[in-house]
Amino acid sequence: MTLKYTFPNDFWWGSASSATQIEGSDNGIKGKDIWDHWYQSEPNRFFDQIGPGQTSDFYHHYQEDIKNMKQTGHNSFRLSISWSRLIPGGKGEVNQQAVDFYRDVIDQLLAHEIEPFVNLFHFDMPYPLHELGGWENRQVIDAYLDYATIAFELFGDRVKKWFTFNEPIVPVEGGYLYDFHYPNIVDFKKAIQVAYHTMIAHKKAVQYYHGNFNGEIGIILNLTPSYPRSQHPADLKAAHLCDLLFNRSFLDPAVKGEYPKDLIELLATYDLLPQIEPDDEQLIRDHQIDLLGVNYYQPRRVKAKENLPNPASPIMPEWFFDSYDMPGRKMNPYRGWEIYEKGIYDIMVNLKDNYGNIPSFISENGMGVENEERFVNNGQIEDDYRIDFIKGHLKWLHKAILAGCNVKGYHLWTFLDNWSWMNAYKNRYGFYAVDINTQKRTAKKSAKWFAKIAEQNGFNN
Ligand code: NOJ
Repeated sequence: MTLKYTFPNDFWWGSASSATQIEGSDNGIKGKDIWDHWYQSEPNRFFDQIGPGQTSDFYHHYQEDIKNMKQTGHNSFRLSISWSRLIPGGKGEVNQQAVDFYRDVIDQLLAHEIEPFVNLFHFDMPYPLHELGGWENRQVIDAYLDYATIAFELFGDRVKKWFTFNEPIVPVEGGYLYDFHYPNIVDFKKAIQVAYHTMIAHKKAVQYYHGNFNGEIGIILNLTPSYPRSQHPADLKAAHLCDLLFNRSFLDPAVKGEYPKDLIELLATYDLLPQIEPDDEQLIRDHQIDLLGVNYYQPRRVKAKENLPNPASPIMPEWFFDSYDMPGRKMNPYRGWEIYEKGIYDIMVNLKDNYGNIPSFISENGMGVENEERFVNNGQIEDDYRIDFIKGHLKWLHKAILAGCNVKGYHLWTFLDNWSWMNAYKNRYGFYAVDINTQKRTAKKSAKWFAKIAEQNGFNN
């Protein structure tokens, strides 16, 4: 029997995670990163004052969690390698305990026929490198390249899918524009420099990997379609500028090897261009990714600026567009983000039409829910809303595949309810609920549903 929504053979079904969010920074030997530091200095900024020490303790529970992944139909799973666990000082000595830990996690995944997708940097700058300026300082790129090289050398025999960065725009937005990541600076020019250095670090890792290994390497970008309020040229322009700043600033150099000309012009006009070095252009041009991970949660609704920015105020991206609260848009009632399933299709068609149909997959998509315990019934969270959410997105992904898009898989954010940065445990996203006091794991209804669709490689309705 053919299912109405059948996915390609070998489609990647799974979920994604990150080291800081699941391992527990007090477990095992680990150097301090910016999250440990920020929590120590300002615990009140974190929801319920819960910091990165108190997580779902994957560090001690990974064997059980990997068995549960298998039960949940996973043939692939993304983890990240904590830089400060692998190299506690940020550069220098490697921590053998971390090597043993990650090697065993990878081996256990492989033993369960779950392909490890390994990401390097997931927002977790080692604190000693932050003290040198973090991504503001070009020397940190060399330290990153050492970390990447060490990870490739240690695990490259077993891991064939690597990612250099997860959502590299987020530390730029959070740390240098909007005050939701350490170091809480608000400075557009620095933000651009940080973004640029991140891209150079990414390119150097890709260059090294391609020169020495045989697997695939990519980057994970949160692509956020910018939809204009209307077809009026001013709204179209606002949406275009927003797209340049938040999507194409990473997408174009990663996939096409060049920055969009309009973006360079915009930055030049406002004296925001970063410092570059003579060999950078060639580096950017010559080392493209093999695979793109796309994180998609919600789109941006954009309209033209109604009031001209005050020239005395510091320049910010919002000088070029306003957000627009489109009436009637569908919202997640349990968290407040917009739900727009077709966005996933629009992203994929754009990659097909304008980015050489690069092999890609949904590396994150998911639904955060506050107070999710309220949906417990007979000892299980009945998260039908999450099933509907995933299904709605998968239907549009399927349509994209029928339209010829080169889509390889779908990963949910995330497997276990986890620590979510400043929001700590406010919003739950997992296939499995975790009681963070007892560490008891309980499958939600969505986990059982996902196991079935992964096994059938699709669904009917
Ligand atoms: C994106 C990030 O990669 C992840 O760290 C975060 O927790 C989820 N989105 C949910 O907001």
